[in-house]
Amino acid sequence: MKTEFDIIRWFDRHHHLRHRAMLELVTPFLAKSSVGGVIMPNLGKPITTAALAKSYKQKIMKLVPKEMSFDPLMTCYLTDDITPDEIEEGFTFPQQWVAAKLYFKGHTTNSHNGVSDWEKLYPVFEKMQDLGMPLLVHGEIPDEHHDIFDLEKICVDNFYEIIRKDFPDLIIVAEHITTRELGMWVRESVNTFGTVTPQHLVFNRTDLLSGGLKPDLYCLPILKRDHHRISLRKIITSGNSSFGAGTDSAPHESSQKYSSCGCAGCWNIIPAPSLYAQVFEEEGVFDRSDGIKVFENFMSKNLMSEVYKQKITSETMRFEKKPFQIPKIIKGVSKIVVPLMAGETLDWSYTLR
Ligand code: NCD
Ligand code: ZN
Repeated sequence: MKTEFDIIRWFDRHHHLRHRAMLELVTPFLAKSSVGGVIMPNLGKPITTAALAKSYKQKIMKLVPKEMSFDPLMTCYLTDDITPDEIEEGFTFPQQWVAAKLYFKGHTTNSHNGVSDWEKLYPVFEKMQDLGMPLLVHGEIPDEHHDIFDLEKICVDNFYEIIRKDFPDLIIVAEHITTRELGMWVRESVNTFGTVTPQHLVFNRTDLLSGGLKPDLYCLPILKRDHHRISLRKIITSGNSSFGAGTDSAPHESSQKYSSCGCAGCWNIIPAPSLYAQVFEEEGVFDRSDGIKVFENFMSKNLMSEVYKQKITSETMRFEKKPFQIPKIIKGVSKIVVPLMAGETLDWSYTLR
């Protein structure tokens, strides 16, 4: 098995950087690891205009350490009122965003401005299809009659299938896939892609709920039964080019995470590359002759040109099978965040070359 190898520097295709003090605290951790990130627009005041995207990007770039090359790809937050013209303005020259993100209203963090009736957005989807602008989807429609563990599966029939049929050329990215059903649907659909987080490849709902509640593992979509995790690992390690690394790294201040109504989201940017490597190792990928390529494609290449029209960097990073200690806590001036796997030692270390 290969225990030391280089790949093209990876790209995080789903990342939450927040704003103000949290933005200042977490941005350097992303910029020092991945060569860029697809930056989610779900701020308290969401990114709904080209001007807001531009100013958010400027704030991010000010926090990138001088020696690092880093490219944040901005996204637009879909609301009930957003118009096709506004979508087009941000996407065409001078381009401020590369995609739009659909949150169904009222399910996850800062989705209160999200979409309440997605069929009313058909003119927007039509415009995005014409422009070649990707639609990124948080595939869970909140509904008091449905169990939280079923929301993603139900969304395949109640949303994904319908939009796929009505807009055959629209590029769709199913974000943070957590179920076998959605993974298989993405694999079998055209113009359709998916991101997968490390936590959904490593943990299941028993890890979250058994032997004491683990707030650090609470994120949305919620961790599922183990057979989903097993299926997702098989799907992404098969070498299918429709799937890419997207951490969904989502920091919350520790006082809000560890409370009687704790926030959903795992701040996983520090352990993410190691955990992805661990999964590919455990699935036997590094024993295969094409193994490093398959891992590199998942980490650094898939989706980058087909969905995001980006050139692949020539920068590289090294993975080594040697212990990597995750810090217990990270303190900023006014914020404290706890990384996923805090205090644990992982099997794979990574360094930029
Ligand atoms: C994300 C957040 O905190 O912004 N939370 C999460 O659990 N993943 C939002 C999201 O992607 O659902
Ligand atoms: Zn997210």
